[in-house]
This record gives sequence, structure tokens and C-alpha cells, in this order.
Amino acid sequence: MDILVLGGGGREHALAWAIRRNPKCDRLFVAPGNAGTAALARNVALDPEDAGAVVAFARAEGIGLVVVGPEAPLVAGVADALQAAGIAVFGPSAAAARLEASKTFTKEVCAAAGAPTAAWAAFDAEGPALAHLAHTGAPVVVKADGLAAGKGVTVAATADEAAAAVRAAFAGAFGAAGARVVIEEFMTGEEASLFVLCDGETALPIGTAQDHKRAFDGDTGPNTGGMGAYSPAPVVTAEVEALALEGIVRPVLAEMARRGTPFRGVLYAGLMIDAGRPRLVEFNVRFGDPEAQVLMMRLGAQALDLMLACAGGRLGSARVDWAEDHALTVVLAARGYPGPHGRGDAIGGLDRLPADSGRMVFHAGTVLRDGRVVATGGRVLSATGRGATLDEARERAYALAEAVDWPGGFFRRDIGWRALGGTA
Ligand code: AMP
Ligand code: GLY
Repeated sequence: MDILVLGGGGREHALAWAIRRNPKCDRLFVAPGNAGTAALARNVALDPEDAGAVVAFARAEGIGLVVVGPEAPLVAGVADALQAAGIAVFGPSAAAARLEASKTFTKEVCAAAGAPTAAWAAFDAEGPALAHLAHTGAPVVVKADGLAAGKGVTVAATADEAAAAVRAAFAGAFGAAGARVVIEEFMTGEEASLFVLCDGETALPIGTAQDHKRAFDGDTGPNTGGMGAYSPAPVVTAEVEALALEGIVRPVLAEMARRGTPFRGVLYAGLMIDAGRPRLVEFNVRFGDPEAQVLMMRLGAQALDLMLACAGGRLGSARVDWAEDHALTVVLAARGYPGPHGRGDAIGGLDRLPADSGRMVFHAGTVLRDGRVVATGGRVLSATGRGATLDEARERAYALAEAVDWPGGFFRRDIGWRALGGTA
């Protein structure tokens, strides 16, 4: 079968890597891809959000499955267009992708499903939102309703900070995404993510992870897209997973089906776990980045079988072949990220590094220029290790990260500290 992966980050390199390991995969295309995907697939200069172009390419090449990495193509209706054209797709419809694209929609679905989440109120104008803050006090969380590239959430320690976030949103700081603002109860606890495949009917959990969002060691510094991750997440015990599945994920999936917009794809449930009880922070309708790097390393080739079963409505008879393993990934980012940073540096040492089922450097913001790997993005590489213990996975990931020759990059030294029993 010929397969097309949409996207060009570390997540998509990890997806392509797992797919490539499965003998069912014949030709593999990644659009637009990066220098890492070029080593195992053919990169295609195609805009993943252009539904017409994606369908035309898939038709012309006889693609048997399209795997959508990021949320933007899903929200733009690319999965709908592929489905209408009779092409199998892993990823939800635009209507189901609203679970990520609109926070008020998700809150309404959770309320109808009885899924526990933070208390909230939504506002379409600044005056009432500011008046509401007088009641909530601080800490409190202010969110732009729509997709704001991960920048629409302010966890405000003071009422002044919360008011400033409300004013910024209504002044257009997040564009149309901030025309509606959600003010939420601040939840305490430990965050973790649960990943569940759904084919519209059957839900199949495929792993848990925790990421490190802050730029610097000790979970300090500005928020980023994620500086590292590990799987499994020890805080998601079997009891917590069962509570999250039965109390949050399954009722929400049932509510989506009841509304005539069944969810098909991977549902990423961001959870806040306090005293063994999970509440929903947010849903994403795709794999996380860098969470996909650790999940794909653990699942390996079976990831393709699971995605095919999901796209084909056959999850009821699918099984996950679990190994007692751990994976950890360390993101190498350009100095300055998530602020202004350099680009264009050549990165050395990559071809000397081991690349096998336990060690892999996934590429994110890289391109090949005159045969050399050049950094083009903020997050540039994900050094990923797998082992029998988290410690072994961590040692392997850090051995890779240390061996990369890139003076313009940096990485955190403490990925996994919480799970390894350390202190930040
Ligand atoms: P979101 O984009 O909704 O995941 O929010 C980004 C991050 O903000 C989350 O991963 C949490 O760390 C934090 N956050 C969001 N909502 C809340 C909340 N209600 N209480 C505490 N922290 C939150
Ligand atoms: N690492 C967080 C995300 O992919 O949303």
C-alpha cells in the first residue's frame, strides 16, 4: 500500500518512521516533510491544508491511506475531502475536529457527556469578561476560544494578569481565535496525556505520555510547543486510566456520535490528575509533538496496522501488542526559541549516530541543502531513546542529543525528572 503523511515536524518524522517499518507500506510520501523524512520517504511540495491539492495528489499516486499529522488540515476539512473522494484517511472530520478548534464547543460536549473539567464561562465582549474576573479572583485561566498556535492560554497568578489577558484577546492579539474568551477555574494537580484511537464506535487506548512545556531546566522559562516527553506517564495508573476512559473519553465519543459527528482518529486527552482523579484540561484531535515521537518508538510497525484499522472502522478487532518498555525524547531547539532565533546553521554528526528500534533522532525544522542538514525551525531535532526502564531510555536519548554537533542549538538536561523521582 502507498501512504501519504501530511506535515513536516518531528511528529510526522516519527509517524513516517513507524509506518516505514511495516511491510504493508510500499511507497511512502510526506508533504512537505523535512530532512529526516527524506531519508525514508519521498518529500512532496504540497500544502497539507489545501484539500483540493491533497486529494488530487492522492488520486494521481493511488494512495491507500492518508495520515494527517497536524490539526490545521483537519480543521480545514482535508479529512472530509479525502473521505468524499473515497480515499482512506487517518484523522477526524472538520466537525469532529472542533474538539480541538473550539474550547466552548468542547466544554458544551463535556457538559452533555458529564465529563469532569474546570468550571468555566465564555464571553464575547471585554466588559462582562472583566466583571466576571471580579468574582473569580486569581489564580484563574484565560483562554482564547479558537486555535491560537498554542499561545492563547494564560494561566494568570493575579487578577491584573488575567485582566491584561482578557484585554489582549479582545484587542486582537490572537486574531479571530480571541473574539470569544473562556475564563476557567485554575486546576491543581499533575498533567498527563492519554491517547485513544476511535473509529467512530470503538475506543482503543494506545498509550500515555507527559511532556515538558517550559523552555528551561526545572520547568522554568517561557512556554513552548514541548521540549521533551516520555511514555508511559507513571501518574496515569491503571485506575486513573480507567477513570479517564469511562468518565471522560468514552462519554465524549458517545456524545459526538449522538450528534451525528462521530470522531475518527486519535483523541489526545490532556488530563489534570489530582488525588487520583482525572479532569479534562483540553482535547487535541491528533498526536502531540513531541509525544508522537515516544509513542511511535514504543508502538513501532504496529502503529500502521492500528491506523488502518481506525480508518477502516475495524478497531473492534484490533489489539495493541504492549511491550514493558519506556521511551523518552529530548528536543533540540535553536538558541532563543521560543523567541526570535537563528536559522540556517548546518548540523553535523547526524550520520554517525545509531538509528534503530531503540535510538532515533527525529527531525523537525530541518531541510537538506547541498547534501547537508540545515536547521530551519525553532524545534529542530528530537533525540529519542527506548529501553526496558525510563532511566535506560533517558540515557540513550541523551547520548544521542550530546553527540549532535550543533553549537546554535540547546536542549533541556532534565527531561523526565518527575517520573525519575527527582525534583525540578
Ligand atoms: P491548553 O492549551 O488548554 O492545553 O492549555 C495549555 C496549558 O495551560 C495546559 O497544558 C495547562 O498546563 C495549562 N492549563 C490550561 N487550563 C488550565 C486549568 N483550567 N487549570 C490549570 N492549568 C491549566
Ligand atoms: N506537545 C503538545 C502538543 O502537541 O499539543
